[in-house]
Amino acid sequence: MTVADKRLNPSRLRRDFPMYARRRNFVYLDSAASSQTPLAVLKAMNDFYGQCRANIHRGMYSASLEATNRYEAARAKIAAFLNAAPDETIMTRGATESLNLLVQTLARRLGPGDEVVTTLMEHHSNFVPWQQLAKERGFTLKFVGLTPDFQMDMAAARRLISSKTKVVTVTHVSNAMGTVTPVAELAKLTHAVGAVLIVDAAQSIGHRPIDVKKLGCDFLAFSGHKMFGPTGTGVLFGRRDRLQALPPYMYGGDMISRVTKDKSEWNELPWKFEAGTPNIAGVIGLGAAIDFIGILGEKNIHAHEQRLTNLALGRLSKIKGLRVIGPSAKADRGAVISFVLGDVHPHDLTNVLADAGVCVRGGHHCAMPLMLELGLAGTTRASFSVYNDEKDVSALVAAIQKAKKMFDV
Ligand SMILES: Cc1ncc(COP(=O)(O)O)c(C=O)c1O
Repeated sequence: MTVADKRLNPSRLRRDFPMYARRRNFVYLDSAASSQTPLAVLKAMNDFYGQCRANIHRGMYSASLEATNRYEAARAKIAAFLNAAPDETIMTRGATESLNLLVQTLARRLGPGDEVVTTLMEHHSNFVPWQQLAKERGFTLKFVGLTPDFQMDMAAARRLISSKTKVVTVTHVSNAMGTVTPVAELAKLTHAVGAVLIVDAAQSIGHRPIDVKKLGCDFLAFSGHKMFGPTGTGVLFGRRDRLQALPPYMYGGDMISRVTKDKSEWNELPWKFEAGTPNIAGVIGLGAAIDFIGILGEKNIHAHEQRLTNLALGRLSKIKGLRVIGPSAKADRGAVISFVLGDVHPHDLTNVLADAGVCVRGGHHCAMPLMLELGLAGTTRASFSVYNDEKDVSALVAAIQKAKKMFDV
């Protein structure tokens, strides 16, 4: 049976995910942390190891040529998925590395008087690197806050983005609240002052169509493991002219065109940013993940997740003592729901849910500045993917009801 036959029928789709066969009553609501891996991705990686395992770009023998072809074909697939060109599509180890690459190359050129505008809801990977380099280089970080409905405060963004702004860097979808930022509007504001826009798409990629041209961003970063791909894979899209203007990030094999005792010249894009042997099997697996998403259709995935998210929001809002931390159901939302139950610590709540077989995440979600702003120790977060269904929502609600009794909320 092909995936196409199972179009967003979660219970049948689960047959594509071996984790569901091994774990009975597996209520996996933590795909925002990492998604499950379908068989097609495992097979693509296995085939590389069994059929053409060799290093890429160097060998003239057939195994190496085949490995290179599979690796570069995966890159071309990823580029097409983003509506970008292959030379604008850099393979990394994940969103964290993609964002650090940018900070280490782009932000090294900033100094006193320059400003970087970001939001209070960034994941630490799009905040700590900027914070640390700001200390070193003397530029200033400016933070856009939230509206009462947990949306990005666009009035504040308009005030803060000025002629001093050199970079605007925002998450597309907040991993802690599900808030969606208006990237296309931000791109206009950013470009009007001659700055560059970086988008952290770790929580939107694979969940909704992403077209870098429509978004209008200069750079876009994401991880493979949150979109059915292998761990240790990621992507940095960069507009060609922007990437050409940056120095390399890491030095070593593959990223050079010529080296003498005194100097080195850099390889063309995208290899200028891919020093050393990459995660060849992983990138090939990521290509298979793109095929998997393509067969299901990003619009269908988005509609399915939106439906489940709204269903869960409706049912959670009826639980007395539970407070959702994030936009209301009416808003365009990511497939994550954060909540607090009375004054129960999120770690205690997630333990009780885990005992009931419900896999969710509790804590600060790598967004401590946001939690400080909200005055919370953390939240409990449920997140949805293609293999989730209404029964998962019911299991979540039942487990919360149990916790409510235990903690007397
Ligand atoms: C919004 C966001 N950005 C960046 C990251 C970092 O991703 P990774 O740990 O795969 O590099 C995450 C991971 O949770 C995330 O949710």
